[in-house]
Amino acid sequence: MKQVLFVCLGNICRSPSAEAVFNALIEKNGLAEELKCDSAGTAAYHAGDQADYRMKQFAQKRGYCLTSISRQVDPKVDFDRFDYIIGMDSQNVRDLKAVARNENDRKKISLMTDYCSGKKYDSVPDPYFGGAAGFELVLDILEDACKGLIHKLQKPA
Ligand code: 4NP
Repeated sequence: MKQVLFVCLGNICRSPSAEAVFNALIEKNGLAEELKCDSAGTAAYHAGDQADYRMKQFAQKRGYCLTSISRQVDPKVDFDRFDYIIGMDSQNVRDLKAVARNENDRKKISLMTDYCSGKKYDSVPDPYFGGAAGFELVLDILEDACKGLIHKLQKPA
C-alpha cells in the first residue's frame, strides 16, 4: 500500500480536489488495495471547514464529489504515514520542506505539476481570489497530473 498526501495552502480548493480526482482514478483502475490518499493544508485558517463551495460546484460538474474537511499538515504524523507528500505550488513545497524533520522526510516531497504530461504549468495556481476560469484550470491540471502520478505509482518502485 502506497499513501499519498496532497497539500495546498488552505486545504479547501486545490488539495481536496486532487484527493477527489485521484480517488476517482483509484476506483476506475481497481487500485483501492494498493493506493490511498488524503489532503491537508500548510495553513490552519480553514481547519474544520468543508471545501470551498465554488470548488465543489466546478468539481461536481465533472463528476467529483468533494467531501474532505480541512486540516493542517501535522509533520509528526504525516511524514511517517505518507510515502508521497505533494504540494500544489512551489510555496507549498517550501513550507513542507521547512517542517520536514530530516532528509528522509524531505525526500517524500514533490510538486504536483512534476507529474503532468506536458511542461505547460509549473504550479496548480491558487483559484481562491479569481473567477471560474481559475477553478476549471485547477481541475484540468489535476486531471493531467493525477494520471501521471497513478502511472508512476503503478510501476514497481
Ligand atoms: P487552497 O486555496 O490553498 O487551494 O485551498 C486557498 C484557500 C484559502 C485561502 C487561500 C487559498 N485563503 O487565503 O484563505
